[in-house]
Amino acid sequence: MLKFQTAGESHGQGLVAVISGVPAGLHIDFAYVDRELKRRMGGYGRGGRMKIESDSAQFLSGVRHGETIGSPVAVLIENRDWPNWKEAMAVEYRPEDRAKYKPLSSPRPGHADLAGTLKYNFRDARYVLERASARETAARVAAGAIAKLLLGEFCIRVASHVVAVGRAALLARETPFEAILALRDKDEIVLNCVDPEAEQRMKQEVDLATENRDTVGGVFEVRVRGVPPGLGACAQWDERLDGQLAQAIMSIQAVKGVEIGAAVGNAARFGSEVQDEIAYNRSQSRFTRASNRAGGIEGGMTNGEEIVVRGFLKPISTLRRPLESVNFETREPVKAAYERSDVCVVPAAGVVGEAMVALVLARALLEKVGGDSIQESRRNFDGYVAQLRSY
Ligand SMILES: Cc1cc2nc3c(=O)[nH]c(=O)nc-3n(C[C@H](O)[C@H](O)[C@H](O)COP(=O)(O)O)c2cc1C
Repeated sequence: MLKFQTAGESHGQGLVAVISGVPAGLHIDFAYVDRELKRRMGGYGRGGRMKIESDSAQFLSGVRHGETIGSPVAVLIENRDWPNWKEAMAVEYRPEDRAKYKPLSSPRPGHADLAGTLKYNFRDARYVLERASARETAARVAAGAIAKLLLGEFCIRVASHVVAVGRAALLARETPFEAILALRDKDEIVLNCVDPEAEQRMKQEVDLATENRDTVGGVFEVRVRGVPPGLGACAQWDERLDGQLAQAIMSIQAVKGVEIGAAVGNAARFGSEVQDEIAYNRSQSRFTRASNRAGGIEGGMTNGEEIVVRGFLKPISTLRRPLESVNFETREPVKAAYERSDVCVVPAAGVVGEAMVALVLARALLEKVGGDSIQESRRNFDGYVAQLRSY
């Protein structure tokens, strides 16, 4: 089974991803993995941290001569900011380091600071925020890049774009997949929106938030093309692919809602306006749909249409105009802590969303076709596709 975990603190030495269950013989395009990491760092409204970091993946294991060998793949992404934090984040106990360091004692509403500090019995939110921080998503993107390379072997492609920032929304609901994919070729990620006019309005939302020393959220959409029908299952609650995708997207820091297909609008429509009617194309020997309101999933399984998943982000919680909080020690009212922070992270969250969706789909694909080597997985996949064609 394809599994992954991450480790590492935001200002520690680095971030680590360990991905196991990758079949042997998968060619790793190292430059591609680094390009994915770079995409996560971009976007209008990112803070100073992203100017310091320049992420690059070091493969520590699981790959030999450019190809996976079936053993766990470990990837390290160093934190370039580490030299400035060596004392504050020292692994060893040195009293002189602790004396120099001022605890973060005014928790930010909306961040993990208060809940985590209570849970782990600290008096310093630093212990919690270091791991809760979305810096961790760099490791997810590295793992996701490997999942995308795997999916690419089966001509399955994953892309994302931004459909709303604050009150500014992309008005067209239908966006061609190729237009979304083409956003990757742009020299600079602005807000990763396919429509320049909508992107301009989104930029104004970020500018307004910046001027007001505030933050702004939004919505990203992940789309997946080329997925065969039958990934996931309807047999058990935790095998349903829509549930797995929802968890994967919801696990991204600051995501507070997930939509599959046109779910939100569908809730207010009649069934006849929502279901995607089924037709059959005899020349292509396949079932077709004129619409895809289901977002490519029915009964917890892929139905062969494009997968469409949206993540809804709250505005991030570190504000330059801090909100009310309470000091851990004195229990007196104080302003919440502020440290260098982003204003808008929707495009970056979309890149993380791609990674999470790719990891879920790669796992579902391998569950369906199995295989300890790419060659074996491919043979099994081709057999399944032949079965579908001859149905
Ligand atoms: C790519 C990305 C970057 C983020 N950057 C920040 C940030 O600079 N400051 C901040 O307060 N929150 C940021 N967040 C959100 C927090 O990590 C998140 O709100 C926090 O961990 C609490 O989790 P929750 O919002 O999911 O409850 C970011 C989220 C993402 C996806």
